[in-house]
Amino acid sequence: MDKFLIRGGRPLTGSVRISGAKNSALPCLAAALLSSETVTLHNVPYVKDLITQRRLLEDLGATVLTPEIGTNIISAGNVDTFEAPYELVRTMRASVLALGPLLARFGKAKVSLPGGCAIGTRPIDLHLKAFEQLGANVSLESGDVVATAPKGRLTGAEIEFEKVTVTGTENVMMAASLATSVTTIRNAACEPEIEDLADLMSKMGAKISGAGTPVMTIEGVEALGSAEHSIIPDRIETGTFIVAAAITEGELEIRDCRPEHLVAVIEQLRAIGVDINEKDKTTLDVKKAAGGLKAKDVVTEPHPLFPTDMQAQYMTLMTQAEGTSNITETIFENRFMHVGELIRMGADISISGNTATVRGKTPLTGAKVIASDLRASASLVLAGLCAKGETFIDRVYHIDRGYETIVRKLKAVGADIERIKE
Ligand code: EPZ
Repeated sequence: MDKFLIRGGRPLTGSVRISGAKNSALPCLAAALLSSETVTLHNVPYVKDLITQRRLLEDLGATVLTPEIGTNIISAGNVDTFEAPYELVRTMRASVLALGPLLARFGKAKVSLPGGCAIGTRPIDLHLKAFEQLGANVSLESGDVVATAPKGRLTGAEIEFEKVTVTGTENVMMAASLATSVTTIRNAACEPEIEDLADLMSKMGAKISGAGTPVMTIEGVEALGSAEHSIIPDRIETGTFIVAAAITEGELEIRDCRPEHLVAVIEQLRAIGVDINEKDKTTLDVKKAAGGLKAKDVVTEPHPLFPTDMQAQYMTLMTQAEGTSNITETIFENRFMHVGELIRMGADISISGNTATVRGKTPLTGAKVIASDLRASASLVLAGLCAKGETFIDRVYHIDRGYETIVRKLKAVGADIERIKE
C-alpha cells in the first residue's frame, strides 16, 4: 500500500485549483442510466471512486468514453444487466445509487447490500422504504437488495424521510423521475450536490422543483434524453485547502471553487481567526490572521450547517488553536478514527460520546500514522504539514478515493510531500 512522507513546517503559498465534486459526480454518472441517449459530464474528478463508478456502469452494459481527463461520455442505450455485484459495492457504497435509475428505467435492480465502513454501519433502510412507497417490491436475497416494479413502472408517492439522507434523496429523485404521476420528498437533503444532480436531470428532461430545499417535487415523465453538464467544484476539497493555508500559516489563492457552497465552513473558520477573502465568485484568498487561532466549538449537521465531511480537518486545525474546543459529530456514529492518530502526533484530545474535546495549542511532531477513511486521511495530511519532522501516512488509498492529484497540488504550493509506492 502506498504511503505519504511529509516533512512539515513549511507555509503553503501560491495558487491551487479545486477539482469537480466527487459526491456530485457519483450520482450524476448514475443518472446517465436513466436515459438511452448520451450524457456528457465535464469536470469529473480523476479519483478512485469515479473509476469504480465508471466500471459499474460498464458492467451494467453502458459505454463510458473519457476523451480527455475530466470528461465522461456515457451511453446507457445498451444496458442489459441490472445487477451491481458485491465486489464493486463493497469497495464503494455509492454503487447503491444504481438502484434508483435501474428501477426507474427497467423496473428491476439487484444491488449488493453495502456493508458498513470505518465511519459507521451506513444502512440504506430509508432508501428501500422509499422505493416501496414508490410501488416497488423490495426483498433481501443472500446479501443482495432485489427490487422490482410490479408493472415495470414505479408510481409517484408522498415520501417523508425520518432523517436526512443525501444518497437516499438522490436515489429517490432518480427513481421518481420516470414514475407515473408526482412524487413529493419531505425532509430532503439540501446539499449542493442535490441541486447539481437536479440540474443535470432537468437538462435530461426531468421535471424537478425544490432541489436544495427540504421539500422537492418530481413529476414523472415517459423518458429522459441526452444532456451535457459540468460538475460543481468540490466544497470539501475547498474547505480542506482553506485549513491547509491556515494551519501552515501560509497564503493560498483557491481557484475554481464555489464559496456559496460552504458558507458555514467559511463563517466558522473566519470566527477562529482565518483570514478568508472572496476575491470573486470562484476564487478565495486565504491566510491566517496575525492574531493566531482561537478555539471554537462546532457541531456537524446536514447542509447548510457545518458538514460532517469537514469535521476531521477542523479537528486538526483546533489542535493549533489557543483554548478548548468541543467538536460534536451528529451524522455518523464512528467518525473519530483520526483522534488516536492525532494524539500520537502530540494532540491533546479526549472523547466523550459523540463529542471530542481538543485542548490547544499543542505542537505536533511527525510520526507514523495510519489513515482509516477518506476525511481522516485528509486530517492526517494537514497534521503532517504543520508537524515538526517527518510524518509517514499509511493506507493512503483512502485519500485517493476523493482528492484528485493531492500530492501534485500540495507540492505546487510548497509542501514537502512525496508518495512512497509500496
Ligand atoms: C453522503 O453519504 C456522502 N457520500 C458522505 O460523504 C457524507 O458524509 C454524507 O452524505 C453526509 O453528508 C456521498 O454523497 C457519496 P447519508 P450518505 O445517507 O448518503 C443514516 C465522503 O467523505 N442513514 O446522508 O451515505 C446514516 O447511517 C462521504 O465523501 C440511515 O440510517 O450519507 C448516517 O448516520 C463520507 N439509513 C446518516 O443517516 C439510510 O437509509 C446520514 O447518512 C441512510 C442513511
